[in-house]
Amino acid sequence: MIAVKWWQKAVFYQIYPRSFMDSNGDGIGDIPGIIQKLDYLNDGTPQSLGIDAIWFSPFFVSPQKDFGYDIADYCNIDPCYGTLEDFDRLVEECHKRGIRVMLDLVVNHTSDQHPWFLESRSSRDNPKRDWYIWRDGRGKKPPNNWRSIFSGSAWEWDEHTGQWYLHSFLREQPDLNWANPEVREAIHAVIRFWLDRGADGFRLDVPHTYCKDPQFRNNPPFWKRPPLDRQRLRDKVFFEKTIALFGLPDFQYKQYNLHQPQTHEILRGFRRVLDEYPDAVSIGEILADYPETVASYYGRGDELHMNFYFDFAECPWDAGAFRRRVEHWLSLLPAGSWPAWTLSNHDRIRAISRYGKPGVENQQAKLLAMLLLTLPGTPFIYYGEEIGMKDPRLPKRLIQDPVGKKLWPFHKGRDSQRTPMQWDDSETAGFSAGTPWLPVGPELSARNVRSQDKDPSSLLNFWRNLIWLRKKKTALLEGGYRALTENIPADCYVFSRSTPGQEILVCLNFSRKPRTIPLPGKRTPLFSTHNLRSKKPVDTLTLAPLEGCLLEA
Ligand code: GLC
Ligand code: CA
Repeated sequence: MIAVKWWQKAVFYQIYPRSFMDSNGDGIGDIPGIIQKLDYLNDGTPQSLGIDAIWFSPFFVSPQKDFGYDIADYCNIDPCYGTLEDFDRLVEECHKRGIRVMLDLVVNHTSDQHPWFLESRSSRDNPKRDWYIWRDGRGKKPPNNWRSIFSGSAWEWDEHTGQWYLHSFLREQPDLNWANPEVREAIHAVIRFWLDRGADGFRLDVPHTYCKDPQFRNNPPFWKRPPLDRQRLRDKVFFEKTIALFGLPDFQYKQYNLHQPQTHEILRGFRRVLDEYPDAVSIGEILADYPETVASYYGRGDELHMNFYFDFAECPWDAGAFRRRVEHWLSLLPAGSWPAWTLSNHDRIRAISRYGKPGVENQQAKLLAMLLLTLPGTPFIYYGEEIGMKDPRLPKRLIQDPVGKKLWPFHKGRDSQRTPMQWDDSETAGFSAGTPWLPVGPELSARNVRSQDKDPSSLLNFWRNLIWLRKKKTALLEGGYRALTENIPADCYVFSRSTPGQEILVCLNFSRKPRTIPLPGKRTPLFSTHNLRSKKPVDTLTLAPLEGCLLEA
């Protein structure tokens, strides 16, 4: 692996703007608030977290039905988050600190309040009619059996023009018609607008839903889908039990409304626009049953620069399972493609809450952090992950997420992973002078920036030290990956990262017992999840329970 581009060496950090820092006491995080906290993220010294790029969940004009994933104006900032001037200042302040700015491109759908949709729905012969997907029904029934990812039919009846429109998510999120070249042009203009204003790239929201079967055929029942392999099936059960993403399964094989082949052409079009800007980057949020499908969105190096691989985040707590997943993914990547890794985001239960066992969850969090930061590829951290923020259990009356509101009690919504960033242990966690839009998470007295800042053994300082170490070690940034499996205990994951001049061995003990790792020769411990480890060279390494350790030749 040779890291030539900035994003191949970068550590990314996702901010959910509504929940990061509120500057004006209205309980809602905002851009000026984020700017106040940039030094925490990277002030150029190891006293800061040291991240290199931020992906911002959307802060564009939006009725907030899906908290910004329903956009009513692509080229302006929602007043609850700030102004375009605030955005310009954000870019300037980020760039000053060497932090790149990555925006969320949400273009499968707009808000139903977007002027394009208001025009489109105004009459059947409006010039924007065909910018969205309008169809006649079957008698009184919707045009076909497609289901919204947020449950219910994907079609909404429009009395005024007597037709149905398609929405893959909420009814307030009508799908754009990507078969229409005018739509493509309009979105290309949006991409250029932000890149010209200083953005460095985009995270693409659900690209696999952009295109639809031109004949709008009914989806077959779920048992018609190609079989999943055994390994995945086992993990799928875990997935459904613990992180069921968007509610109840809808018993359909979504053959005709997801992953249509035309999508690749759309993405090549985006890539041509991005390539007009030498440093721009893209990463896709591709949700698919088969990792091969996810890999296909790299194209021939002419589609997305990176894609999230969510099978990794959905892996059970099992060293072997993690190793098999990683290697399966690496084996599927087309030559020259660059992997990305993430364990948490605004749609799924935080890793610490998924995997954490009482009493040892911080050790588990350190082990996962070490895995995330040492795998070959670009790591993405979710805000609060660095201080071990946990998902609270929220009562129904506090639920804000439309998914939770619609599907309670089967799905409790995604609010628990969107609670305010915990800056200190005061009542509102230092997030706001007013009442935060969501309550703060559990165990605040320990899980906050201020109390972890000065504690050398805190999770926060662990992340800081490892991120800054990573920057100095070429082997971690661009070294090749090789797993060691011979005589390695089954509950440990051991791999090396090496360049011609440097080798780092990564030894991770997923068990709650000590484990002994035979080393390929004398190695010197460099960095451990357990602060007390001696730095004397060894040829066998005894790992403490849940210890992770980096060693050098
Ligand atoms: C993506 C986003 C999610 C949003 C959905 C619809 O999955 O991550 O938060 O609700 O798309 O835009
Ligand atoms: Ca605010």
